[in-house]
Amino acid sequence: MSTRAIQKAGAPGGPGHYLTNYAEARRTFSWADARLALTGRTDPTLNIAAETVGRHIAQGHGDRRAVRFIDRHWNRVDLTYAELQRRSWRFANVLRTLGIARGASVATLLGRVPELFTVALGTLEAGDVLSALFSAFGPEPLKTRLQLGHVQVLVTTEAFYRRKVAGIRDALPELRHVLLVRDDATQAMPPGTLDLAALLAEAAESYSTAPTRDEDVALLHFTSGTTGKPKGVTLPHAAVIAQHATSRMVLDLHPGETYWCTADPGWVTGIAYGLIGPLACGASLIVDREEFDPERWYRILAEERVQVWYTAPTAIRMLMKAGTALARAQQFPALRHMASVGEPLNAEAVTWGVEAFGRPFHDTWWQTETGAIMIANFAACEVLPGSMGRAIPGVEARVVRRTAAGRLEPIESADEVGEIALRPGWPSMFTGYLENPERYAAAFADGWYLAGDLARRDADGHFWFIGRTDDVIKSAGHLISPFEIESALMTHPAVAQAAVIGVPDPIAGQAVKAFIELRRGFTAGEDLRSQVLGHARRLLGAAVAPREIAFSDGLPRTRSGKIMRRLLRARELGLPEGDLSTLEGKE
Ligand code: WT7
Repeated sequence: MSTRAIQKAGAPGGPGHYLTNYAEARRTFSWADARLALTGRTDPTLNIAAETVGRHIAQGHGDRRAVRFIDRHWNRVDLTYAELQRRSWRFANVLRTLGIARGASVATLLGRVPELFTVALGTLEAGDVLSALFSAFGPEPLKTRLQLGHVQVLVTTEAFYRRKVAGIRDALPELRHVLLVRDDATQAMPPGTLDLAALLAEAAESYSTAPTRDEDVALLHFTSGTTGKPKGVTLPHAAVIAQHATSRMVLDLHPGETYWCTADPGWVTGIAYGLIGPLACGASLIVDREEFDPERWYRILAEERVQVWYTAPTAIRMLMKAGTALARAQQFPALRHMASVGEPLNAEAVTWGVEAFGRPFHDTWWQTETGAIMIANFAACEVLPGSMGRAIPGVEARVVRRTAAGRLEPIESADEVGEIALRPGWPSMFTGYLENPERYAAAFADGWYLAGDLARRDADGHFWFIGRTDDVIKSAGHLISPFEIESALMTHPAVAQAAVIGVPDPIAGQAVKAFIELRRGFTAGEDLRSQVLGHARRLLGAAVAPREIAFSDGLPRTRSGKIMRRLLRARELGLPEGDLSTLEGKE
């Protein structure tokens, strides 16, 4: 544990920090106040869209720029809060015209395009459930998620539709409508699809926000476990209270400030902090439609005068690799706060921030299930490089151990590793795993929510990440289920058995490695390896398919036949093999 804290000078001329005194903020914070700060009301009838867009218009800020999209050729498209409102109202009307009832699931499979905002906000406005899917997924993970989510409307691009959805459409009887963002309006529409632009153009431009309640499900995000199907995490409309409060307390985002979140909308960060939280703050968002590129990113930070920047460790490590000189070639006088999330942020990356930008990256920790940042390094507080920071005001977070009697007990010593546990009661806490109440119930014990992460906590309450309690893989910030990859591999005729683990990778944190046992009659070799790899990429999408495949003569199994991924990983990494008492072949 490094304890060399980075002290920071205040931001001269900038707005005052929302959170200046941590101890005092913890003492005085209440969620009731946070709710009032957002809505000015106490009645439990929140609607995320109304709080993120409608409220600013009611307060006379309709002309403020809400989002700026930047395309490959540096063309910029700006939308004001008023324009966002008009577009989302039109989309809400489209849903009603199509006969979609309140509470139905609407999914997006889109890049970072203006239509994403229209559909996301319109869906929430209409009281339907928004599920933003990761556009790098292949057909197989998409099919699983569209089925599990009972998705009735899918909004995607023509290219994604042809490549990923057309072939699985028959397996999706509940999918009533597919609306396309068209690439080429002169081409015929693929059968069974509708033109989103045409529907929006015909729709009425005013809508009366659906009377949602705080606890109504607003968002459906898919996350991965070790076994079985992905988990459909439901978040309520009240989540906006916590997303707004943390956008202020942690991201330190003020109304009118220029803010850039680099997360993909297909993961929870891209919605919670790429859309809802910052819009609720009345900020002005930058959205880069292109993929990562160091020079492009520095140019955006500089030219757009980004003030608050929320990014991820893999991107930071790629920037480091591109060299500090590239960053120093630009000036970032407007940039006043930088934060990171999603995977462990190494101490070197935190201090590299100081070298390259004159300020450290502030690590933050949360999960899809928590719906908002729970642990953070705050803008006004010193930063301990390598620590995830402290619990946000309004949340009690500890690391816990299980006693001999089977109870959970907070650990007082910083020397002992335990599981991160949070006291339920914050407004963005997930309300369930779709169709899996047992799993939801199993996430709670003794009045704690158990996060499935291992950490230490020091006497001052700083958390230091150790690892996961399960076998899920974090690669480039994406949470990947080994089970889902193993299942896809096993659909290849040559594969009898597969086991998937994460192996260390200097940039992505972890990379996916698969071990396969072949069926009789197949011979290991380069040909077969690339065939299986190609098969996995087609089904899963390149972003989640294994990077490496190794042939194995016998995967380690328990006596009950379960593959021991943990042992496989220990062998791969040269770590102690641990308790082998259940290994098959042992007496
Ligand atoms: C898992 C949650 C965070 C929202 C987007 C990802 C890992 C998250 C950190 C961090 C080390 C981190 C944890 C967590 N994680 N933040 N600052 N340091 N690990 O949400 O896909 O549900 O993933 O990401 O393992 O449980 P998610």
